[in-house]
Amino acid sequence: MSLRSRLQKNPFIHNYSRMWPFVKPFWKMALLSLVITLPIGALDATVALFLKPYTDLVIVDKDITSPWYIPLLIVGFTFVQGSLIFISAFVSTYVGGKFSIAVKSKLYAKLLSLQPAYFDSIHSGTVAMRFSSDADTACGGLLIGLKTLLTRVFSSIALIGVLFYNSWHLSIIAMLILVLALTPLAYVKKLIKKIVAQNILLSASVTTNYNETFSGNRTITAYNLQEQRAFNFKSQMETVFGLSMRLNGRTAWLSPAMHFIISIGLALAVSVGSWLIVSETITAGNFVSFIAALLMLYTPLKGLGRTIVSVQSSFLAIERIFELFDMEPTIQDKKDAKKLEGIQKNIVFDKVSFFYNEGKPVLNDINLHVNVGESIAIVGNSGGGKSTLASLLPRFYDVTQGSIKIDGTDVRDISTHSLRDNISVVFQDNFLFSGTIRDNIMQGNQEASEEMLTQAVQSACLCDFIESLELGLDTEIGERGSLLSGGQKQRVAIARAFLKNAPIIVLDEATSALDNKSEKIVQQAIDNLMKDRTVFVIAHRLSTIRNADRIAVIHEGQLVELDNHDGLMKITNGQYRQLYEMQFHPSLSLEKPKEVEENNDDNVNAEKNENIISTTSV
Ligand SMILES: Nc1ncnc2c1ncn2[C@@H]1O[C@H](COP(=O)(O)OP(=O)(O)OP(=O)(O)O)[C@@H](O)[C@H]1O
Ligand SMILES: [Mg+2]
Repeated sequence: MSLRSRLQKNPFIHNYSRMWPFVKPFWKMALLSLVITLPIGALDATVALFLKPYTDLVIVDKDITSPWYIPLLIVGFTFVQGSLIFISAFVSTYVGGKFSIAVKSKLYAKLLSLQPAYFDSIHSGTVAMRFSSDADTACGGLLIGLKTLLTRVFSSIALIGVLFYNSWHLSIIAMLILVLALTPLAYVKKLIKKIVAQNILLSASVTTNYNETFSGNRTITAYNLQEQRAFNFKSQMETVFGLSMRLNGRTAWLSPAMHFIISIGLALAVSVGSWLIVSETITAGNFVSFIAALLMLYTPLKGLGRTIVSVQSSFLAIERIFELFDMEPTIQDKKDAKKLEGIQKNIVFDKVSFFYNEGKPVLNDINLHVNVGESIAIVGNSGGGKSTLASLLPRFYDVTQGSIKIDGTDVRDISTHSLRDNISVVFQDNFLFSGTIRDNIMQGNQEASEEMLTQAVQSACLCDFIESLELGLDTEIGERGSLLSGGQKQRVAIARAFLKNAPIIVLDEATSALDNKSEKIVQQAIDNLMKDRTVFVIAHRLSTIRNADRIAVIHEGQLVELDNHDGLMKITNGQYRQLYEMQFHPSLSLEKPKEVEENNDDNVNAEKNENIISTTSV
């Protein structure tokens, strides 16, 4: 194997060289910060070097006047060294900061490009750890590692020069001891690799714990989970502690061991050195200068045990970062992906099957033909696959078999950006971002005018609510919209969908039990949203179902019935009829669906119950 390919295969060099594109834009500054370190290292040696003439002239020859310049030079050199260290620290903080921005921005872009399935499989703590902390560790470690390495290399070369200048006999002994002292390092690196990786995983779960305590705080309070959570947290911390003790056990011996080996080196140098002085092979000055240089050479080694953990952590962080960079999103545009410009004819689900995990089919051979402008209500048992079916259209997931076509074009042949531009999704659990109501609605269309915004607010039946607020649209809604009621959140999400003004609507109606008045308002907002659009609505409310042109019944992943309300009610023992009759009107005869509507109009409470098909209890 050639040297070049061997170097390329070395994981250390491979990973460091892949960092180059991030450093490239400011390589001059990076180079400066590294070049400055060269004299910093080399200046150590000059101090050691001066000790020879000083010892020989002053201590041995008692000549005070000749070496007058030496104290001045020592101070002068140390001043230059100090100034360089200052400049180097400044430049490297700048380069390190810029470098970290470049890596983190690329990591964040990668995170945004990943498919929902990726987010299903990881925890929030892991995201924070792998996409943010790892970048800090890697960038900080990379630059400091390189700088330390270069300073050490150059100071070592210069110091070794001083050693050989003074005595080659003693230098050979010193070199042998140096090699001996360095050998445990490679061994320790292997020993700690696994523990450092485990430590990172555990720290991620601690972060997830904090996140869950924040977002799940009401559940924790309602179920009195404080003690249990506190106990879990403590045991997490104990495990982290156990790991760091193991880490310590594997590295703490390193410094004393090196210290011991080095002391043998010094002892040998002193013994052999004394003999060399007596035999007049070297002068006393040579000896003092040699010992000073040797001490300077050995000193950083003694601390290496401590730094090896942080260097190893940064190296592992770089490896993990590149794992992320190498990850390809599973949902991507084809090279010749088409741009979708509205919908003219139809949307067809053609023999669609899907599973999240192999061997556990969620949807099975679904055939559904929806014409433009039509609204399809999807009902069925909880966990039957309704939300999953709706999430296949905007390609949150890709079908496992079959295809979904818009105007004859497979959604996988359409650019995801234009596909999603044409679909407004209102989710079962709507997510609102921290910020104001205006910020959240404007996410539907960043370029919308004030007039369009007002129109969306009106259509989403938000006017009364917004007028009642002192700051109106500019009211802060808290993280995840925590300062709003359930119905208000839904309507803000609907207004956001309005502003997007996409021709296709996917609506996963929330089952949250709203009070009668807000339910009517939300229903009005939904009705407005559905007008003149092609709509898939996972329906829980009878009013929505009745307003839909057709109803698709999804049961255990199969499309079992498809017709309008009246048609479906005619199917004896049909799923829809069972849902409708058995759940809400066990006392009513199966033959009298019309009575139900009359009943609804008369009785307010009955209307509330009837208006929600709570599929979760099926
Ligand atoms: N991200 C996921 N990863 C793995 N399995 C999932 C995922 N999301 C849903 N499932 C599973 O797929 C099945 C269908 O879920 P889906 O959310 O589509 O049901 P649904 O009909 O919308 O139910 P509901 O009426 O309760 O909202 C369920 O068994 C569910 O556990
Ligand atoms: Mg659902």
